[in-house]
Amino acid sequence: MNFRLLPLLLLAAFGIAVAAEVNYPLDAPAPDGRRPGGTISQSLPPPPIANEENKDLKRERNYPEQPPTIPHSISSYQLDKNGNQCLTCHSRAGSARSQAPMISITHYMDRDGQALAAVSPRRYFCTQCHVSQNEVQPLVGNSFENIDTLLQNEANAPTKT
Ligand code: HEC
Ligand code: HEC
Repeated sequence: MNFRLLPLLLLAAFGIAVAAEVNYPLDAPAPDGRRPGGTISQSLPPPPIANEENKDLKRERNYPEQPPTIPHSISSYQLDKNGNQCLTCHSRAGSARSQAPMISITHYMDRDGQALAAVSPRRYFCTQCHVSQNEVQPLVGNSFENIDTLLQNEANAPTKT
């Protein structure tokens, strides 16, 4: 028997199996999320782009290691390989001029925990970790409880004997 055609045959059989499997009901209702209503195949107009929250009020962090969310608009700030406008306000020197909080020491550390003279390259693209917020209602609920609540609950719980 000629086995040279075997891989080709297997590939063809696999292709047919896959093609047979793809049989989405195109008029099924779409999941209600960002785009409520309509069917899976239907194009609906996207919701309007929400405003960026710009209240300048720092938000509580859920745990100390959390990168704080950005309490101001960033839509006009350049942040690419040619320039970092965040640092004009948030760098060590810039924070005195702008009264913005200085980036913390971790932003100057390399991956071995060694403090560098300038901002560490791995902390250069700020929006990898820090995000601004939009004026919208959350799409899904959230039952997160922070450590203060957990400790409080534990203290209030009846003691085991
Ligand atoms: C014009 C100066 C300026 C620029 C540019 C700027 N910020 Fe800010 N930022 C501030 C000030 C001032 C605050 C303090 C809160 C406030 O007034 O909004 C702040 C607050 C923050 C905070 C909150 C810190 C905390 O402790 O809660 C983060 C995070 C932040 N900025 C990130 C950024 C990032 C990322 C960029 C670039 C995309 C940026 N900022 C650009 C001035 C600036
Ligand atoms: C790899 C993730 C990461 C990147 C990238 C990053 N940060 Fe942060 N940032 C954090 C974390 C985590 C914290 C909170 C804990 C800490 O200070 O390390 C923080 C804290 C801060 C704070 C609050 C400091 C304080 O003492 O309260 C400011 C302001 C800030 N970052 C600004 C920036 C700016 C501006 C950039 C870009 C130059 C940037 N960050 C890049 C993770 C990041």
